[in-house]
Amino acid sequence: MSQANPRVADYPIDRQFLERWSPRAFTGEPVPEHDLRTMFEAARWAPSSSNLQPWRFLYALGQTPDFDKFLALLVEGNRVWAKNAGALVIVLSKTTQPVSGTDKVAASRTHSFDAGAAWAYFALEALRLGYATHGMAGFDVARTIVDLKIPEDYRPEAAVAVGRRADKSVLPDYLQAREHPNGRHPQKHFVFQGGFPAT
Ligand SMILES: Cc1cc2nc3c(=O)[nH]c(=O)nc-3n(C[C@H](O)[C@H](O)[C@H](O)COP(=O)(O)O)c2cc1C
Repeated sequence: MSQANPRVADYPIDRQFLERWSPRAFTGEPVPEHDLRTMFEAARWAPSSSNLQPWRFLYALGQTPDFDKFLALLVEGNRVWAKNAGALVIVLSKTTQPVSGTDKVAASRTHSFDAGAAWAYFALEALRLGYATHGMAGFDVARTIVDLKIPEDYRPEAAVAVGRRADKSVLPDYLQAREHPNGRHPQKHFVFQGGFPAT
């Protein structure tokens, strides 16, 4: 757990961006509700198109019946380690938005983008409080909609495990080998001045 973080930034950013990573080794200690609420509070202040705040968060605290219900939604490959998280969260986005001056709604173009910003704020606030977060696309979306009674104009975006980090020895061997911060592509792969480069 105390291994050094080898991440190096190419430009002088705040350390939090390098320190946030997605471990799988958690202690199993439940996250106190007040701490989780503090993470949601950070998410609350994320920017969104027209300030519509289309994110929604469903949560289950560790060692509660809800936790078992949420854990059962994850694919086996995530359940094996996320069972030791201190809380599980499902991030949703609202896929429709009001059409101003009418009582109609239209499809939102930015719901996922906005919810993504909120999740990022959540993750960075968790880090500030000494918690780790791990986003997961590996969950049963159809079952999540049914079991958590999600209305049809909401999109399950991701699940998130939150908790205190544990030593990697709590993990099976194949996951111990992956329990370290990873790297990133250099900016030349994803930042382009003036327009998209010719392919
Ligand atoms: C939307 C999303 C879905 C992800 N799904 C999974 C998943 O199902 N299982 C898993 O082990 N990791 C999952 N991850 C973790 C990513 O693999 C991880 O964020 C990525 O490799 C970058 O590493 P870092 O978060 O440690 O910086 C997911 C992350 C995000 C943001």
